[in-house]
Parts: sequence; structure tokens; C-alpha cells
Amino acid sequence: MIVLKTERDLEAMRPACVLAGTVLDEVAAWIKPGQTTREVDEFAGSRIKAHGAKSAFLGYRQYPCQICISVNDQVVHGLAGPRRLEFGDIVSLDVGVVHNGFIGDTARTVAVGGCDLAAQRLMDVTEKSLHEGIAQAVPGKRVVDISRAIQKYVEANGFSVVREFVGHGVGRNMHEEPQIPNFDDGKSGTKLRPGMTLAIEPMVNAGRSAVKILKDGWTVVTVDGSLSAHFEHTVLVTEGLPEIMTWPARVSLK
Ligand code: MF3
Ligand code: CO
Ligand code: CO
Repeated sequence: MIVLKTERDLEAMRPACVLAGTVLDEVAAWIKPGQTTREVDEFAGSRIKAHGAKSAFLGYRQYPCQICISVNDQVVHGLAGPRRLEFGDIVSLDVGVVHNGFIGDTARTVAVGGCDLAAQRLMDVTEKSLHEGIAQAVPGKRVVDISRAIQKYVEANGFSVVREFVGHGVGRNMHEEPQIPNFDDGKSGTKLRPGMTLAIEPMVNAGRSAVKILKDGWTVVTVDGSLSAHFEHTVLVTEGLPEIMTWPARVSLK
């Protein structure tokens, strides 16, 4: 069952989404070489709290951290710990907050200090593929149009999309229907309708698409050790153009 959001729902959900985007901005601006991922997670937790929200991840299926921090060949769901970030690393930050009873879910990959051109190209292509997908989030199109647009753009640029993890509807729950694969799975015929709120989130590998989960039970890595990037927005399907709900506030909220 797909939950269509009413205008009243959206009034509550919009601030949750802006907050998630703002925290993501704050963490991205804060990280530097030498910090441990645990310090980054603590900073993220303190910003979420400062905005009066809560992490949507902490405790979700016993997930132990405030946000997901995935470094280099880590794809998603990386756990914070003693690892120190180094100049040239790329870090995928995934922020989910609960506020007003609704969830905002958004992710971005950033360089720590700087990175080489190959890593920058991977991040650029992944971000652009997200926007190719978002552009399809209009009434009359189907979920598969989002999936195809992402896959086409990524593969035309020589990279591969991860298949085991997908985007999703989002609202009062983090993972609602429909699933939104980043490739054409031959299903996903669901028609897009105004009021749908979708977390669209391409996960893109520089090498092969295969991934595996580490023994910690969470961290997803590329099997071939290649770099991976992840960009995500929570998007509202409207009568007109898609509304990117997790765009950060342009000024500090607090
Ligand atoms: N935010 C992730 C997503 O984009 C889900 C994180 S699950 C958690 O769907 F357990 F790590 F929190
Ligand atoms: Co997310
Ligand atoms: Co998501």
C-alpha cells in the first residue's frame, strides 16, 4: 500500500526533510582529515539534537549509530568507529531524522579535504544520476522511468549501479512502498501520483556492481574494492515539477 501524503502531512514532513538536508550540509562542511568516523557521528548526533529532532537510524533494526558513514569502497550503512579519515578519502554520509512524526532521508558523498579526479567524477556522475531520476518523478510516469533514467546515465558514464539496495517511499516510516530500484528490474510498473514522497538514492560503483556485507552485519562494500558513491533526496511528486524536500536551509536554522 502506498501512502499518499495530504497537504497537512506535508506541512509536518517538510521541516523534517529540510532539517535532514541541513544536518547533512553541516556534517559535510565539518569533516576534515584526521577525524575519526565516531567523532563525525557524534557531531551529527549533536546537530540533529540542536535542531530538536532525532536520528531515524539509531535503533532501527538495532542500527548502532546516528548516521551512516561509508568510506571509499564502503557503499552504504558504514558504522562509525576509530577509523581516521584521510585526505583524499571519499565519504558517503546518509542522514535520516524524525521530526513532527515524519522522516527526512538524504545522502551525499563528499571528499575529505580533496580527492583525485577519478573519485570526483564518480561523485559527479552519481549526483547527476540522482537528478536524472528526480526529473522523472512526475505524474503519469512510472517508478521504472526513474530507475531507467538513473541506470542509463550511470552506465553511459562507465560506472555500475548497485542492485541489492534500492530507494523507497518515505513518510511516517523510513521504508514505505514503493521500492525504487536504480536499474530496470522488469517490475516497478507503479504509476507516480501527486502526494507520493520518494527517497531516490543511486548507489554507484566505479567498478563492478557486486557488493557484500562485512562481518559487522551492516557495512556494505564493493566486492572488487572499487570506490562507491551515494546520493539521496526525499522528493515529493506534485501536479507539476518534483519538489526536492531535503534541500538544506540556506541559512542556519539554529
Ligand atoms: N537511510 C538508509 C536509506 O537510505 C537506511 C539506513 S538503515 C539504518 O534507506 F539502519 F542504517 F539506519
Ligand atoms: Co538514506
Ligand atoms: Co533511503
